[in-house]
Amino acid sequence: MEWQIVTKNEQETQEFANYLSNFVYKGLVILLYGDLGAGKTTFTKGLASGLNIKETINSPTFNIVKCYFKGDINLFHIDAYRLENNKQDIGLDEYIYGDGICVIEWPNYIDYLLPKEYLMINIIPLSKNKRKIILTSNDIKNDKIIKEVKKYGA
Ligand SMILES: Nc1ncnc2c1ncn2[C@@H]1O[C@H](COP(=O)(O)OP(=O)(O)O)[C@@H](O)[C@H]1O
Ligand SMILES: [Mg+2]
Repeated sequence: MEWQIVTKNEQETQEFANYLSNFVYKGLVILLYGDLGAGKTTFTKGLASGLNIKETINSPTFNIVKCYFKGDINLFHIDAYRLENNKQDIGLDEYIYGDGICVIEWPNYIDYLLPKEYLMINIIPLSKNKRKIILTSNDIKNDKIIKEVKKYGA
């Protein structure tokens, strides 16, 4: 299943991600694709606020992974940018198959670690503040998320 939405500013991206958080489930993996500055971390902030995570979400580039345990559901936020396919086993499957939801920025750098089922989100800049957000799923559980978010703004 595929569906897309265009947001006109950072707040709209966060509001949409916040709405999507209503439909997440334990074990969900979100693959966040998009170039530097596309809005992957911005999206994750909105998702986290929807999960009632009060801590500041910032790009985990220098940490690879950040864990948030105080929201409605655990959030594991991975930024694989610095791993660039070096295939070192640093135990990321503990988060990808962990007790919570896992959001992965730059998933293409760890494609050998990715699960079969995931919600794929592509963020494509259309202009300075406009972003096309494309959601793709290939299994029943994640199709269901897309079916729900399709109602957004309707
Ligand atoms: N519609 C939009 N959605 C998300 N971010 C936007 C949007 N318009 C402008 N921006 C800006 O783009 C930047 C996105 O940064 P960030 O989320 O860190 O990107 P990434 O994690 O993909 O590198 C932020 O400065 C944000 O304010
Ligand atoms: Mg980022």
